[in-house]
Amino acid sequence: MPWVAETPLSRLQQFCINVLRCGPVPRHVAFIMDGNRRYAKKVHLEKVEGHSKGFEKLSECLRWCLEIGVKEATVYAFSIENFKRSSEEVNGLMQLAREKFAKVFQDSERLEKEGICIKVIGNLSLLPRDLQNLIAKAMLLTMNNKKLVINVAFAYTSTDEIANSVKSVIQGVNNNELSVDDINEELLSKCLYTSDGTNPDLLIRTSGEVRLSDFLLWQSSNTTIYFAEVLWPEFTFYHLMAAVFKYQRSYSDRVRFLTHTEKVKESYNGRVQSFLEKLRQRRISELKVYAS
Ligand code: FPP
Ligand code: MG
Repeated sequence: MPWVAETPLSRLQQFCINVLRCGPVPRHVAFIMDGNRRYAKKVHLEKVEGHSKGFEKLSECLRWCLEIGVKEATVYAFSIENFKRSSEEVNGLMQLAREKFAKVFQDSERLEKEGICIKVIGNLSLLPRDLQNLIAKAMLLTMNNKKLVINVAFAYTSTDEIANSVKSVIQGVNNNELSVDDINEELLSKCLYTSDGTNPDLLIRTSGEVRLSDFLLWQSSNTTIYFAEVLWPEFTFYHLMAAVFKYQRSYSDRVRFLTHTEKVKESYNGRVQSFLEKLRQRRISELKVYAS
């Protein structure tokens, strides 16, 4: 199964998208793909097979996102907390990731043609060396594709991401690249793993659990959240439609909030701009080291 399924949409699905496009379409959708193990139990599969089914659903869902006109999707594929699961399950998930990131090289032409960028957000230092290498190569290979950016949260928690952002800022101050007075909400946002992207407009969690589980906490203060009762491998196109309709109904409140926060934003001074550019270059160099 490729990262983005090739299956064409049915006429009914196409019709629904046309209706939906009459209203605002979320630019960025985030997914907490929960319920893979309950699904596996329900249909008598091994846990890891439940995660494989989860990847198949992700592939289908990314096709729907692309057709709707979503520009950025962020998916919670492996939390740092998941390292506490049995070694059999953790190894199974790492193996699944190896297969899927290796697939990026096989599919590179199609990914480029469709404009699909695959970016991992998370603490790569916690992963096995060979997976770090595959992930870094996949990211470098697709980084210039611009139609749909897929942020794969892998070895990720929001609290770890925020701690890492603070660390980058402190290093900047210690190296005299920043002054303490430069530190504000915007600077910390720009040092997160998600710095190149936008905040999610819509966040969907499956499996009936109503919590955020340390996912995009900083980025989701103004996000429409949709909790679906269905287990992730059973998520359908129509659940996605229902979530987008909820987003459209809440749209006018969001616009009011954004107009207010826009006024609060300050423009960066030259020192901050040059620090952020150095940080970006440093992160690309780190990726090149992992890829070598
Ligand atoms: C949560 O369900 C799901 C995960 C911890 C893993 C999600 C991974 C995928 C969908 C595969 C994606 C893989 C790549 C490489 C992108 P759960 O295990 O918590 O299930 P439960 O809630 O029923 O226990
Ligand atoms: Mg779960």
